[in-house]
Amino acid sequence: MAIITVASIKGGVGKSTLAIHLAAALQIQGLNASVIDADVHQRSTERFLDRRTQRLNGSAKAVLTASGIQTQAGQVGPHYFDSTLRHASRQGHVIIDLPGSKCELLDTALLRSQMLVSPINESFVDLDVIGTSKGLPGPLTEAVLLARQQREEAGLRPLRWTVVRNRLSTLYSRNTAAVDERLRALADQFDFDIGPGLTERVVFRELYDEGLTLLDAMDHQDVKPTLSTVAARSELRAVMETLALPSRF
Ligand SMILES: Nc1ncnc2c1ncn2[C@@H]1O[C@H](COP(=O)(O)OP(=O)(O)OP(=O)(O)O)[C@@H](O)[C@H]1O
Ligand SMILES: [Mg+2]
Repeated sequence: MAIITVASIKGGVGKSTLAIHLAAALQIQGLNASVIDADVHQRSTERFLDRRTQRLNGSAKAVLTASGIQTQAGQVGPHYFDSTLRHASRQGHVIIDLPGSKCELLDTALLRSQMLVSPINESFVDLDVIGTSKGLPGPLTEAVLLARQQREEAGLRPLRWTVVRNRLSTLYSRNTAAVDERLRALADQFDFDIGPGLTERVVFRELYDEGLTLLDAMDHQDVKPTLSTVAARSELRAVMETLALPSRF
């Protein structure tokens, strides 16, 4: 059972959206998957899962569960997080959704996970958390380098790191090409894979309120499957393939 951390140390890049969709994609294939919302202040994933529980109540389809990290004082530290994580990973796949800023749970998450997935948007602002034009590591890469060292010392398998470009524009721009070029140079230098991207699509936003994902949109008679849903689903499948996760949906 895989533990997957979704983190970027950058706000609003699509971490929660990707975390929810990775878990939903595993679950639709009959696998047990839960999401740990480690963003204890924003809690947007936890609130999404509450809506989902209400929305799918009574349906045969199982509901993704947040293995809740309590927000009460003293219960969000790395030790409590670690035991929550161990417990959740005994039940199945676990996706950890981390906040957009540096968080003390990141180090624990990277030590326990087999892979890190980092969404970034087509912007040098987002890329800066990975590295600069001079090849200096940004805060995300620093955390990964530390985790790699700690994992090696602990005799754990190397952490697999994949950067997934999100909210891609369908229009070509010089910025896109420049960001791509920098990303490829950083991938060589800091040893990460570049996954296929997810295009900017309204479907990712509109389903949140319903507690649904684009994977449910196919079999809920009151949500119309559109061409955009089909295309987004195929992009998500490609991301899952890159992550070597089951992708028959
Ligand atoms: N591929 C996409 N197409 C369109 N909108 C998207 C896409 N991915 C994410 N969004 C939207 O972008 C916004 C930020 O996404 P999300 O909340 O998943 O990011 P985040 O990285 O978890 O943010 P935070 O750092 O605040 O936790 C949301 O409004 C979400 O609906
Ligand atoms: Mg989030």
